[in-house]
Amino acid sequence: MARRDFLTGTAAWGAAVCLEPACAQSPAPNSVLGPLMGHSGETSAMIWMRAGAAGEFELEIMPLSGGPSQSLKQTAQLKDDLCLHWRVTGLEPGTKYRYRLLQDGREIAADAGQVLTTAPKADAPAKVRLAISSCAREDAGSRAVWQRMASREVDAVVLIGDTPYIDSTDLAEQTQRHREFAAVPEYQALLKSRPCWWTWDDHDFAGNDVSGLVAGKENSRLVFTRYRPQPAFGDGTEGIYNSFRRGPVEVFVLDTRWFSMTGPSFANAVKPTLLGAQQWAWLQKGLLASTAPFKLLACGMIWDDKENTESDDWGTYKHELSAIQQFIGEKRIPGVILVGGDIHASRVLKYNTTKIVGYDLVQFIASPIHGSTIPSLNVYHPDLIRSAVEPHVFLQVDADSTVTPAEFHAALINKDGETVFSYHLTADDLKPKP
Ligand SMILES: [Fe+2]
Repeated sequence: MARRDFLTGTAAWGAAVCLEPACAQSPAPNSVLGPLMGHSGETSAMIWMRAGAAGEFELEIMPLSGGPSQSLKQTAQLKDDLCLHWRVTGLEPGTKYRYRLLQDGREIAADAGQVLTTAPKADAPAKVRLAISSCAREDAGSRAVWQRMASREVDAVVLIGDTPYIDSTDLAEQTQRHREFAAVPEYQALLKSRPCWWTWDDHDFAGNDVSGLVAGKENSRLVFTRYRPQPAFGDGTEGIYNSFRRGPVEVFVLDTRWFSMTGPSFANAVKPTLLGAQQWAWLQKGLLASTAPFKLLACGMIWDDKENTESDDWGTYKHELSAIQQFIGEKRIPGVILVGGDIHASRVLKYNTTKIVGYDLVQFIASPIHGSTIPSLNVYHPDLIRSAVEPHVFLQVDADSTVTPAEFHAALINKDGETVFSYHLTADDLKPKP
């Protein structure tokens, strides 16, 4: 395909995708959804689409500055709920590519905004902007947050649970809710041109405060793997944990549901596990191997006790939090930062952990994207340094390794673009003390 032809198509995709607000609430079973980006690295990127019917589809991708295009075919099948995952490899780091989707040579998604940017080389000095948050619905306020993330030109998005709300492990329910979430036009507009990583919290996993003992979690995982374009999910058969590197940041996107309560803990055999042995082994390996100045451990749960009647927080699994802290301390791993969601309030806590970790760990809590806050969960904590009970928010992270020491600036931004609070760290703050 000549470059001239590649760049001409713009209108066809709008016709194929339902852009009306009403359609986003309940897309027809044959709705085309996407394209959306998932995982992207230095030399690879994943593109997702749900087709309207079974058949063969083609992804074409070429450098924005010109050059040869790549073409990859995939077949949409009913057994996969018509979900297509393209994994493009052989890309150049830090480079923009335009892509389009075709069926039988006819453009079905060729918007001029379908431009992706690969990650910069891991250890090259770089600036990166991430948006991280949790708890989204398909309402106008949540849509305004997707728009705000886009207008802030974030490089990547991390959604840490209740994204969407499902509250069932029924296969049909799971499928329907993932479709409704993916049909939101502002969500599609955000993710057609930037990568996203997801984990689940209780409501997208199964229901309020549930653990890994819940019946039917295999259905939740199956639908997650269909609707989330990632190269790998958990250990391949269990869990959905994953990780990515983008410039000075590596994010370990933890699964704090699948394994929870399913057996004894690796940290204490008489207590229940949260992460499970295989996720813990994966995390240790990843932390040891990471050269990123900032290493985010991100999950839906908060890294404290919620102090309500529910047990889905790290307060229930203090033994595993202690194991993580000890591991960081013993291996002298710099730059670890904790991220949580879930509680419909946003907070920053700085813990007095220098003795065990080597430096004071900081946690950022970002929630909710929707408008329903929970003031009672913004409890007193001696280590609390920022907090806000603010609807429609996300954490904008600006990490910069073009300066020494590398900088990490996190700001809680609301849908109107106002900064609710911010907190600044440098790599020196997160260096193990002698
Ligand atoms: Fe929530």
